[in-house]
Amino acid sequence: MLAEKICGERIVLERIKPTFKLAKELFAKVEMSADSLLPWLSWVLNTKSAEDEYAYLLNWCDKHWRNEQGCAYVIRHKETKAALGIIDLCNFKKADKSAEIGYWLSIDAVGNGYMSEAVKLVETEAFALGFHRIVIRNDTRNMRSVNVAKNCGYHLDGVMRNDHWAEHENRYVDTNIWSKLDSEKEAE
Ligand SMILES: CC(C)(COP(=O)(O)OP(=O)(O)OC[C@H]1O[C@@H](n2cnc3c(N)ncnc32)[C@H](O)[C@@H]1OP(=O)(O)O)[C@@H](O)C(=O)NCCC(=O)NCCS
Repeated sequence: MLAEKICGERIVLERIKPTFKLAKELFAKVEMSADSLLPWLSWVLNTKSAEDEYAYLLNWCDKHWRNEQGCAYVIRHKETKAALGIIDLCNFKKADKSAEIGYWLSIDAVGNGYMSEAVKLVETEAFALGFHRIVIRNDTRNMRSVNVAKNCGYHLDGVMRNDHWAEHENRYVDTNIWSKLDSEKEAE
């Protein structure tokens, strides 16, 4: 399984363990960032309290970890220890050795390169564990997320048309599929 803690130059990734203290800390970030998260992440609609956040830590993060299906990390600033956001590796397909990276940053952490650093840390860990293909999916209009995939050297495999129902927009939207293969990890 993935490491409990991954250290980068400016950030540290700590595997999420479900405590109410962490849920309160993360919910405060979700609440202050709702306007920037909601267009791309519909779970924000159902995250209205620290209790909701705690349920996610318990029922998604901890459950995926225990079932060896995924791992979610809180991204912290190395010096201040402030929570900056979350990155996870999920959708493990063991036979194909593939997995998917998902992420969000608190609004006050955007624009510093923290997510590109986090993606590189997680993929390095995943390739070292034997994963063959890492995927990033994003709404074709989500230019900040598109730039993260590009900055990190991901290949645009294609666009899945109208594959996702955007609840808050009441319509289907298109999704980019980006990938990086283990053979490409040193080609950057
Ligand atoms: C997607 C998201 C994580 C991207 O955040 P981000 O801060 O733009 O991405 P990075 O952390 O990689 O930072 C890159 C930015 O930091 C800037 N930057 C500043 N210092 C930097 C440094 N030392 N190194 C690298 N980039 C740096 C880059 O120029 C770039 O800014 P720009 O796009 O204005 O040019 C964030 O916008 C977000 O959480 N959005 C809402 C949720 C979301 O969309 N999640 C993804 C769903 S698929």
